[in-house]
Formats: sequence, C-alpha cells, structure tokens
Amino acid sequence: MNVTGAILTRRTIKQFKPDPVPMENVLAWLSTAAYAPNHRMTEPWEVYVVGPSTRANLKHKNDFGGAPLLLAVASTPAKTSVDRDEHLVATACFIQNFMLAAHAEGVGTGWSSLGASPRVRELLALPQGQEIIGFLPVGYPLEVPEPKLRTPIEQKLHDLP
Ligand SMILES: Cc1cc2nc3c(=O)[nH]c(=O)nc-3n(C[C@H](O)[C@H](O)[C@H](O)COP(=O)(O)O)c2cc1C
Repeated sequence: MNVTGAILTRRTIKQFKPDPVPMENVLAWLSTAAYAPNHRMTEPWEVYVVGPSTRANLKHKNDFGGAPLLLAVASTPAKTSVDRDEHLVATACFIQNFMLAAHAEGVGTGWSSLGASPRVRELLALPQGQEIIGFLPVGYPLEVPEPKLRTPIEQKLHDLP
C-alpha cells in the first residue's frame, strides 16, 4: 500500500476483534511515527500503554470498541504558548503517522479525545505540563466504516495576491 492509498483508506475504527496485535509490530509503527516533523527536534510525544486497571477506571462508554491494546499519547510540557502549540501539532503528526503505519499492515486505530479532564489526568498520573492528545485503541477491525466524504478542496483554497 502506498502512502496515498493508506491515507485514503484509513478509517477511525469503532469495533475491534479481540486478537492481540504483536507488541513488536506496535513498537515498529511507533518508531516509524517518530519521524514526524517536529520543530528543533523536540520529539514532544510520550506514549503510555494503558493497562487493564487504568483502562477499567477510565469507564469509556464501550471500552474503546474492545480493542486489545490502548495507547495514550501525550505532548510534553512547554515554556511558552507558541512552544505548546508546536508540541501539540507535532504530536498530532506523530499520531497520524502511527495510524497510517498500522493501517498499512491491516491494523486499525481510533482516536478518542477524552484526555483533557482532571479525572483522566489523575488516573494516568500525568506529569505536570504533559497533555493527552489522544487515546488510541489499536487492533484488528471488526468492521470498517464507510468513508466520510470530505469537502472538495477547492472550497478550502484561497488565492493571495
Ligand atoms: C483531535 C481528534 C479528536 C478525536 N476525538 C474523537 C472522539 O473523542 N471520539 C471519536 O469517536 N472520534 C474521535 N476522533 C475521530 C474523528 O471522529 C474521525 O477522524 C472523523 O469522524 C473522520 O473519520 P475517519 O477518521 O474515519 O476519516 C477524533 C479525531 C481527532 C483528530
């Protein structure tokens, strides 16, 4: 699968098979993801492998679709608001890379943004200044949703003089 094919066919997966995904594969996709662009090579991401008791305490509405693996990806602290924004967006690039690398090998992912609440921060014992950018369920898809069509890009294109 080439990059364009991976981008066009990746979906947010809501229901997963229980079959485990080999951790060595997950580590390989995370290593690939780390080639995301990041200003001044800050590599501003931290990855948490969420264990069963933490996961149960999150009380997610459908337990992340039964995914056999749950990751939480956080961005690292920053001294200025500009640096904070750069850390957030670089970490989002890291997440997208991870999703595409997994998808290219038949493994689905989701993205849940439940990380901002104080309750969740406390559950994860998140170091001060780190921010959860996404909880990522990872596993073989039970069902793959239809594509959600996008606005024609011409409508997002703006000519400047
Ligand atoms: C920052 C961010 C937060 C998201 N949070 C959620 C979420 O909390 N729950 C959810 O079901 N999907 C979440 N999504 C996934 C989007 O709903 C999904 O990408 C969108 O519907 C398009 O579907 P697709 O990814 O299959 O193309 C999130 C995506 C992003 C980028």
